[in-house]
Amino acid sequence: MKVAVYPGSFDPVTNGHLDIIERASPLFDQLIVTVAQNLEKKPLFSVNERVEMLKAVTSSISNVQIDTFEGLLVNYLKKQESKIIVKGLRAVTDFEIELQMALINKKLSGVETVFLVTSTEYSYLSSSIVKEIASLGGCVEGLVPKEVEKRLREKFGEK
Ligand code: PNS
Repeated sequence: MKVAVYPGSFDPVTNGHLDIIERASPLFDQLIVTVAQNLEKKPLFSVNERVEMLKAVTSSISNVQIDTFEGLLVNYLKKQESKIIVKGLRAVTDFEIELQMALINKKLSGVETVFLVTSTEYSYLSSSIVKEIASLGGCVEGLVPKEVEKRLREKFGEK
């Protein structure tokens, strides 16, 4: 069985992430989307909230599973008996750090990183920019799934 792992902060999941999940899931038997714990010092959403949102927006994709991990990603992959990491690449600015992570993970435990290039319509999107827009009262419609829009409104209130 070919199991791939798509790791990230997902604070919160955006339409860009969802696009990667929808396009990566048919390529593998199982795709585990896993939320990194203890990474950012001040995430907007708790790990639980991020998992809930991911579950809500991927419920129709049968081979996608949502999980969390702590510590080294390669150790988590071993636990899941997976040798494949999935990542999305937006622009050249992502490339340097992603290349470094892919090479380190390969060196640490021989895992491969498969990059999917984001659809052009989401190439400018990031969780940070979504949070900034929402915190300043801007409209995030079309940038995040409806469920996430609702949660952002709950966090920041209607403006
Ligand atoms: O969504 P993000 O914040 O870009 O995700 C980054 C993440 C969580 C995938 C990355 O920081 C990670 O893999 N962290 C786990 C710690 C680790 O294994 N570090 C060494 C290899 S990069």
